[in-house]
Amino acid sequence: MFHAVIPAGGSGTRLWPLSRSSHPKFLHDLTGADRSLLQATVERLAPLADAAHTYVVTGTSHAVPVARQLPTVPDGNLLVEPSPRDSCAAIALAAAVIAERDPEGVMGSFHSDHLIPDADSFVATVRAAAKLAEDGYLMTIGMVPTYPETGYGYLRCGDDLDGGKVLREFREKPDAETAERYIAEGYLWNSGLFVWRVAVFLGELERQQPELHGIIREIAAAWDTPHREEVQGRLWPTLPKISVDHAVMEGAAAAGKVAVVPGSFSWNDVGDWHTLAEVLETDVNGNVVIGDGDVLAIDTTDTVVVPRGGRLIATVGVHDLVVVDTEDAVLVCPRSRAQDVKKLVDVLKQRG
Ligand code: GDD
Ligand code: MG
Repeated sequence: MFHAVIPAGGSGTRLWPLSRSSHPKFLHDLTGADRSLLQATVERLAPLADAAHTYVVTGTSHAVPVARQLPTVPDGNLLVEPSPRDSCAAIALAAAVIAERDPEGVMGSFHSDHLIPDADSFVATVRAAAKLAEDGYLMTIGMVPTYPETGYGYLRCGDDLDGGKVLREFREKPDAETAERYIAEGYLWNSGLFVWRVAVFLGELERQQPELHGIIREIAAAWDTPHREEVQGRLWPTLPKISVDHAVMEGAAAAGKVAVVPGSFSWNDVGDWHTLAEVLETDVNGNVVIGDGDVLAIDTTDTVVVPRGGRLIATVGVHDLVVVDTEDAVLVCPRSRAQDVKKLVDVLKQRG
């Protein structure tokens, strides 16, 4: 059986002031599609897994809005974390809970905050990955890189498989110089979309991260019992904070256990207002309005306006700007500085 897992952590700081740690980006409608990124993710996965086989792993403070946004997903499939322990713990918890319920199961892990407009191509690629996962590979979906992004993982392909390639190397977040070299050498980007048999993943976790594996298995064994809260409460804080890419994928690739299926669907990880706007429809002047608030733009070009504060946003004679209005904060910055919104949030955090 195929199970779809959505780890929904992180707060999306570069999308401030709309995205906040209390209401992170996956809970927002960021495209004007009338559904949040999380809801769009579940919808995209529907041909692969129904609600009964869909899991969301998220923090305590987001459990209520997640449940409200996904009324068909059973309560038992909302895996709530008392504190964030990074993606390895989140994904491993889902794998171990699924293994308790369906030891032969195959799972895919899908980011809650990716924009993937071509759902059909996405589903076909995941199906191809699931087929190779049946053979025992830890599967990832690889993307052709377009610039030397240092926030992504890079994949070096080896021998051909039926529908994919074995990986020779998985390198998470290289420095800029290395990323440039990787692109010249034909590496792919890791999309972060993984597919594997839960038993295979847990075996690899046990080999590389025996401590984390032991703790997660103990928590999962108690999950469908009255002892869940006590066991998770006691053990969760002892989990190491590490990403699944560093904890499992790099080592598994070195051991020849990872394979890649190339993805040809367009894909955007909605990091900041500029990259988000790039994949949305513009008007004749290149402007993008995200949301259905009131906007009056005169002699304005290539500007992103997010009217969420319930009042009119008016601009005259500006270009290449980001203007985000919410009830209690307004952001104005050039599009080229959209990445730096993170710095602003860091300062705000220090201010308390
Ligand atoms: N529930 C939960 N709890 N989810 C988490 C946690 C956590 O503590 N930490 C991370 N996640 C989720 C994120 O919400 C996201 O869906 C996924 O795990 C990946 O975490 P990120 O923190 O966004 O990773 P990244 O963007 O730095 O890198 C990953 O994704 C890139 C593509 O977007 C890696 O897989 C890279 O190799 C990849 O290129
Ligand atoms: Mg990410």
